[in-house]
Amino acid sequence: MRWTIAARPNARELVAEDFEIDRNPPLGTLQDDDLRVAVLMLSCDPAQKGWMENVAGYAEPTEIGQTMPALGVGRVIESRSAGFAPGDLVQGLLGWADEMIVRASAMRKVRDEPDAPRLALGLLGSSGLTAYFGLTRIGVPQAGDVLVVTGAAGGVGSIVGQLGKIAGCRVIGIAGGPDKCRWLTEELGFDHAIDYKAEKVKARVRELAPEGIDVLWDNVGGQMLDDLLARIARKARVVICGGIARYQQQGRPPGPGSYFNIVFKSARMEGFLLGDFAEDHDIGRDRLRRWLAEGRIVQRDEVVDGLENAPQTLMRLFRGLNRGKLLIRVAE
Ligand SMILES: NC(=O)c1ccc[n+]([C@@H]2O[C@H](COP(=O)([O-])OP(=O)(O)OC[C@H]3O[C@@H](n4cnc5c(N)ncnc54)[C@H](OP(=O)(O)O)[C@@H]3O)[C@@H](O)[C@H]2O)c1
Repeated sequence: MRWTIAARPNARELVAEDFEIDRNPPLGTLQDDDLRVAVLMLSCDPAQKGWMENVAGYAEPTEIGQTMPALGVGRVIESRSAGFAPGDLVQGLLGWADEMIVRASAMRKVRDEPDAPRLALGLLGSSGLTAYFGLTRIGVPQAGDVLVVTGAAGGVGSIVGQLGKIAGCRVIGIAGGPDKCRWLTEELGFDHAIDYKAEKVKARVRELAPEGIDVLWDNVGGQMLDDLLARIARKARVVICGGIARYQQQGRPPGPGSYFNIVFKSARMEGFLLGDFAEDHDIGRDRLRRWLAEGRIVQRDEVVDGLENAPQTLMRLFRGLNRGKLLIRVAE
């Protein structure tokens, strides 16, 4: 079984009709360097909507009718590559299917350990590594800094805040709803949380951080970014990780009106892609694994069972219904 892309959701919400189910897909034959993989677990990422729209300049263009792409973990069933054997656990760009043929050169082996698929797609995968490299290399947090994280209760944001605490920062998370905010402070150790759906973000940040924001981690963009740029401290580092507020909008949002504060505060604003740090991913993974073993960081996620639920599950991200990393379990 697989799900294919049926329509491009440009400038609108994702809907169920954007995907089509194919219950008897052709299996294909293995060529040299191919692996046949049983898909075990799939990651839900806001970027997948951009891949469907063909607007993500860094990703391979998608076609209507192709299997919906997704980062995932699978087990090798058959191998035409010297580097992989049946039974190996692998990770890479897979898709919404229970079985796939993929290029071995595009896969990496995953350590077979308890909870391997969850960890490989969460803390030790793109969410954790994005948080780690964006924060340590661009945010460069110092002990005593005020770190503000938008999209704080999501897969990336929930890890950024915990890394900020390890670095000795005072961490303020911004998320939608009182439950998420309580969860951030009570379970993840954030110092404060602001419910952007009920509170005035700018005023609350002024109260909580009268000296301003030293490191601003932005997953959201739009008005939220503009409000927070107005509150940065001198020499602030603004890390642009994502812009989910614009992923469903028509056209480009207006530029942040407060951008000139970057000049007044001698600050720096920098975007990045996780791939920029590809050479060092293993270093990041080792560091995160160590903190996990020491109990200094946790992975919080939601696992939804069943490939048949993939479209509804991905839509949860854009409705703010997830807490932590959102995953789809395809098979045990
Ligand atoms: N630069 C990179 O290499 C890289 C890598 C991975 C991810 N990212 C980006 O990082 C961001 C977070 O990704 P993630 O995987 O951790 O997703 P996520 O935060 O787990 O899920 C998305 C969350 O965004 C919030 N949201 C949805 N629509 C929103 C809107 N219109 N305005 C404000 N908030 C909205 C919701 O939380 P609330 O209920 O709190 O609103 C939702 O739970 C995304 O923008 C993603 O594209 C970048």
